[in-house]
Amino acid sequence: MSRCRLVSFCLVFVSFFTFAGCADYERNKVIEEHCGSCHSTDRIYEKKRTKAEWKKLVHGMKIRGLKLTKEEEKRVFEELFQNYLKK
Ligand code: HEC
Repeated sequence: MSRCRLVSFCLVFVSFFTFAGCADYERNKVIEEHCGSCHSTDRIYEKKRTKAEWKKLVHGMKIRGLKLTKEEEKRVFEELFQNYLKK
């Protein structure tokens, strides 16, 4: 393999992972933006919960001062139900 090909191969490899990392952030953006101001979002991702538990939990966050529009709340639940649902 020529040196140039090797370099371009590496570039493709690196940019693929950079892109994949960004996509992941994009997906969790609504949670990172709204849920990360009072505590680390690791607390959210470390445990799976049922739909009822998530609803109760987000309600509890609202009592503590979380501000979400209806639309944002919908996206938060979509994200949580898709990836952090206890089956
Ligand atoms: C206004 C501040 C605030 C915001 C915004 C906030 N939280 Fe919290 N959250 C808290 C506090 C305070 C605690 C600690 C409460 C406790 O330990 O009893 C907590 C704890 C938690 C926990 C751990 C609960 C447990 O029982 O272990 C989770 C999960 C959580 N929050 C999820 C979220 C999610 C999801 C969002 C966004 C939709 C969010 N939080 C936004 C204040 C906030």
